[in-house]
Amino acid sequence: MPRKKIVLAYSGGLDTSVAVPWLKENYDADIITCTIDLGMVDLETIRQRAYDVGAVEAVTVDGRDTLVNEFLWPALRAGAIYEGQYPLATALGRPLIARYLAEVAAAHGAEAIAHGCTGKGNDQVRIEVGVAALTQGVEVIAPIRDWGMNRQDEVEYARERNLPIAPSNSKFSTDENLWGRSAEAGELEDPWAEPPEDAYEWTINPAAAPDAPAYVEIRFDEGVPTAVDGESMGGVDLIAHLNRLAGAHGVGRIDHVENRLVGIKSREVYESPAAVALHAAHRGLETMTLSREQSRFKERVAQEYAELVYNGLWYTAHRRDLDAYVAATQQHVTGEVRLRLHKGTCVVAGRRAERPLYDYGLATYDRADEFDHNAAKGFIDIYGLPVRTQNRRQG
Ligand code: ARG
Repeated sequence: MPRKKIVLAYSGGLDTSVAVPWLKENYDADIITCTIDLGMVDLETIRQRAYDVGAVEAVTVDGRDTLVNEFLWPALRAGAIYEGQYPLATALGRPLIARYLAEVAAAHGAEAIAHGCTGKGNDQVRIEVGVAALTQGVEVIAPIRDWGMNRQDEVEYARERNLPIAPSNSKFSTDENLWGRSAEAGELEDPWAEPPEDAYEWTINPAAAPDAPAYVEIRFDEGVPTAVDGESMGGVDLIAHLNRLAGAHGVGRIDHVENRLVGIKSREVYESPAAVALHAAHRGLETMTLSREQSRFKERVAQEYAELVYNGLWYTAHRRDLDAYVAATQQHVTGEVRLRLHKGTCVVAGRRAERPLYDYGLATYDRADEFDHNAAKGFIDIYGLPVRTQNRRQG
């Protein structure tokens, strides 16, 4: 009988490196690792490490374009920010990882998929619900949740088996992709304590940022960013460019006590320079192009969309329905926004749209005014009618 095959989502870190021999021993299986570049990964080094710790095959995928086009842009167009703070970097990456795991499992005829999530986080839910949506009869194994080893035990386990892995000396648990970086645990678990400077890697401290503001102009076509300062760019390059630029001005630091799906409150430190800048710019352009009612309703959809992404419900009809609504609202979100980046702040300094609802002739107080001032009188009369009636009759 051929040996059982398990596809393991492999980051190259201590947890998933120890998971390779652990799965091999406990399931008598061949381990195929799957590593996906979502923007920050050296695939060659990780591929080599996977073989060093005993994988029979190390699959690597460049998932950056897919991440941007199928996950980040829809979330940006939707305005999806969890609890008003978190642009959802990790949460948007997980369903894509689930998809690649499902594809690799199908291609190799694997019976099981394994991942390195703990039992306390959101990521286990996102990956497992995603895999369940995309596969049939594929088992999911979560070694870190099951094995009851702590970090010390893992290091010991690795040493016993001569695994060539150096445990990182990072003080925090981190995750990153193009849309942002997260840090948790360690000193960050005291919500009263300000995050130490070394919790941040992508952004400069705003106090140390340049004294002069920087301006950057972003073009959107139907709600999708397509150019920066007049230069057309693909999504991956555009986001990487804005991460550097906005990060150099201290933009994108987020310190949030967040409500996890599993019911725990957790202090999270995020850096999302590009996401923060792009959301601000996108919202700025929408103020020019959406009607009052569209804006109001879309706010609610944005919140719904953010919760759905956060809670691991990407592969649902509900998400596709919301996408359809959002896509309809983006038809005229075409134009440019000029942002000012300055010492940690990112504000819209100017906006122009190809088909704006903003109308100078209606807005101006100058001689060019086209608004019918007399019509206001009758409008207020009718508009205030129920107010007057109610106050007269009911006090
Ligand atoms: N709290 C964030 C989320 O749930 C980030 C999680 C980061 N994951 C990690 N394995 N460090 O989306």
